[in-house]
Amino acid sequence: MKTATTLRLRINGRNYDLSAHPAERLVEVLRHQAGITSVKEGCGTGQCGTCTVLLDGRPVVSCLTFAGEAVGREITTVEGLSRNGEMHPLQKAFLEHGAVQCGFCTPGMLLAAKALLDEKARPSEEEIRRALVGNLCRCTGYRKIIDAIQSVAGVPRSRRAAARRRVRR
Ligand code: FES
Ligand code: FES
Repeated sequence: MKTATTLRLRINGRNYDLSAHPAERLVEVLRHQAGITSVKEGCGTGQCGTCTVLLDGRPVVSCLTFAGEAVGREITTVEGLSRNGEMHPLQKAFLEHGAVQCGFCTPGMLLAAKALLDEKARPSEEEIRRALVGNLCRCTGYRKIIDAIQSVAGVPRSRRAAARRRVRR
């Protein structure tokens, strides 16, 4: 049995002293100790991406990350994207493009997209698709999500429409 200790995690710019064992999975500690329920557990085996968080800006699957690995690092969840009550441009774009398809996959998609755009402001469609490869949608599709990310990356609407026509052919 794991004995809990106090773990200090820095989440969305705030320190949390949580009663948890370092070998507990980060997804559980975030959800059940810190109360951050935007982090969803889907497969629990590192394949679906619903549990994605950023660790020092890089996406990780929190179902396969020990809470102890996150100590001393900056954890970002989707709650940390807005600033002073203003949504992040990606959040606005997801809303505008109908890319908020469900509450399960969207947080992870947003965080994966943020990590990509922080690294490369003007990624190609191929690079966007590659960045989202670990974030699965089981029900709808990826076109609106890609459109939303491209809009933040400055791809004009006409080029996105042309890409959509190519996909339909
Ligand atoms: S729940 Fe972590 S990858 Fe699916
Ligand atoms: S899993 Fe969220 S829209 Fe498909």
